[in-house]
Amino acid sequence: MRIALGVSGGIAAYKAAELLRLLQDRGLEIQVVMTRAAQEFVTPLTFAALSGRRVITGMFENPGEALPGESAIEHIAVAQGAEAVVIAPATADVLARLAHGIADDFLTTLALATRAPVIVAPSMNVNMWEHPATQANMAVLRERGVQVVEPGAGYLACGMTGSGRMAEVLEIAESVFRALHLRDDFENETLLVTAGPTHEPLDPVRYLGNRSSGKMGFAFAQAGLRRRGRVLLVSGPTHLEAPSGINVARVETAGQMAEAVLEWLPQATVVIMTAAVADFQATSVVGHKIKKQDGTLTLQLRPTRDILSEVRSQRRPGQCVVGFAAETDHVLENAAAKLHSKSLDLIVANDVTQEGAGFAVDTNIATILFPDGRREALPQMTKLQLADRVLDAVAELRKCS
Ligand code: PMT
Repeated sequence: MRIALGVSGGIAAYKAAELLRLLQDRGLEIQVVMTRAAQEFVTPLTFAALSGRRVITGMFENPGEALPGESAIEHIAVAQGAEAVVIAPATADVLARLAHGIADDFLTTLALATRAPVIVAPSMNVNMWEHPATQANMAVLRERGVQVVEPGAGYLACGMTGSGRMAEVLEIAESVFRALHLRDDFENETLLVTAGPTHEPLDPVRYLGNRSSGKMGFAFAQAGLRRRGRVLLVSGPTHLEAPSGINVARVETAGQMAEAVLEWLPQATVVIMTAAVADFQATSVVGHKIKKQDGTLTLQLRPTRDILSEVRSQRRPGQCVVGFAAETDHVLENAAAKLHSKSLDLIVANDVTQEGAGFAVDTNIATILFPDGRREALPQMTKLQLADRVLDAVAELRKCS
């Protein structure tokens, strides 16, 4: 879910950095757009470093530099991709331009082009705020459905006292969460999630691994954050960046993943094991690169630690444990067998031979199996949507337990 954060030129522009953090802490991806005046107060570099994305500072700065899948017309691409546009601080000038439909820079053009909710947090001198022109503009914007996070009263940067001071960033963030209908139902939960593959070394340059990208597990981390959960993520080697606001342990092997999971297990209320843990490792790792040779090469392998079985033996009452089953045949039968043998509360079965499901794609097609025999077959959906559906099932179980 992408949020466009517009920053216009007011003294409160620096507070937008804190707002960005609060939005990221709920797993939201942020695209910052700055007006020319905003850049007099804070540099784009600050927001680029915090958001991990290029900051948009003008209409014509990157002609033809569209990312794959995005429109070459950047303001249209951002307008279509944004689930909400929040402008904080919103100056008298920006509010006036929004009210009159003037689109003379990137931010105002974006605000005109989007169908997403627009939230503004006005910030200005008290006389400017109380001026009939500004109040008339605010009335027009409110009437059009723009959500206004009302400014507070107090000491203003200009030395005067009165209204016009930008609302607290927490209040602005809450308005965004409300506009997005984010839920809070994991507020008291700690989710321990495993993601990605494991790499079992054979020699200093080779390993046994699999095609897991980590996308499924990272989607759970994001879904958990959005629902205000605390997230502990144990990830095998992936190229994915973890959302800010979660604790991440990066590991390589099944043994290291087992150690990290067991260390965090006592804190977890919900455990979700999406990782594609290698089932075998070399009996001994050769200390030098195995040389090319004629004929066959025999590797001797032994089973890795079965992390779910160790979780089963150490779990405390009330912890909910969800497993995943990556299957290529007899999908539901095999998944049901794992559900019972590992005493899981739920298992999510995916047929990894299906197009649009399983490894390294953005979508999945899965069936959730419950211990009482119920099955919920889900259509193809994004991994984030699937994570949300599984969390819905977990929330139901937690209510009943
Ligand atoms: O990472 P992506 O590219 O997004 O791909 C997602 C996925 C295909 C990896 C994911 O959807 C998935 O199916 N994950 C489970 C993969 C797997 O290892 O399945 P399994 O049937 O072999 O294992 C069953 C369960 O036991 C899993 O929860 C697994 O984490 C766990 N396990 C497996 C082996 C082991 N030694 N210890 C374990 O705990």
